[in-house]
Amino acid sequence: MDIILFGPPGAGKGTQAAAIAERARVPHISTGDIFRKNLREGTELGKLAKGYMDRGELVPDSVVCDLVTDRLTHADAVAGSLLDGFPRTVMQAELLLDWLEAQGRTVGAVINLQVDDDVLVRRLSGRRTCSACGASYHVDHNPPSVAGVCDECGSAVVQRADDSEETVAARLATYHDQTAAVLPVLRRRATVSDIDGNQAIDRVKAAVLAVIDAADG
Ligand code: AP5
Ligand code: MG
Ligand code: ZN
Repeated sequence: MDIILFGPPGAGKGTQAAAIAERARVPHISTGDIFRKNLREGTELGKLAKGYMDRGELVPDSVVCDLVTDRLTHADAVAGSLLDGFPRTVMQAELLLDWLEAQGRTVGAVINLQVDDDVLVRRLSGRRTCSACGASYHVDHNPPSVAGVCDECGSAVVQRADDSEETVAARLATYHDQTAAVLPVLRRRATVSDIDGNQAIDRVKAAVLAVIDAADG
């Protein structure tokens, strides 16, 4: 089944993704992670995405939609996926849902992590991210076992370039201006489970896994 993990920047999508993907036996596909990987590798896609990411704006729909539909046809994703950070415009949502329908695929669950803006700002300003695998940490709420070193892969844990104060404000504005409007589309065409993402990481995890178990069973 295909699962959409939805929520504003800092809501906890990346934090919850590995457990959800494992439980649902689907690959975790994060558009942000794909752009950051391309940026590190210096590809044309990475160069194109960088300007938008640095400004807290969205990469154009045409680029993102092709990227995701192509990824969804890879062998590991044909039976389902966990989409993190996509769709985030109404156009992306309509295109994705039409495309999945045409493939005979269904959205088994939409998890909507709801978090207050002031909490998001505190989370993003204290976030640290693995430079290799993208794992998400927080200086206070979720530090790696060894300071500066990723628990998952041993690589360096750094601050993301777009977690600066101005870019965080721009990303939240982009969310409210362009991405919040995706929710009514998802509610119309799929089943959305609203989760209180202000809770502690373990409580959010229990709530999202309960949604996956119900959708799977
Ligand atoms: P992307 O990488 O998707 O970033 P985002 O949506 O801004 O989301 P984040 O990764 O910042 O937040 P998250 O929800 O994953 O939070 P996390 O779990 O890390 O996109 C980056 C950029 O790429 C975009 O700005 C855009 O330019 C471009 N892009 C990507 N997709 C696109 C698309 N579809 N279309 C167009 N452009 C696109 O948690 C945050 C922090 O909080 C961490 O420190 C974590 O430890 C902590 N935390 C998490 N949960 C809790 C909790 N319950 N309690 C306490 N702390 C917590
Ligand atoms: Mg993320
Ligand atoms: Zn790592």
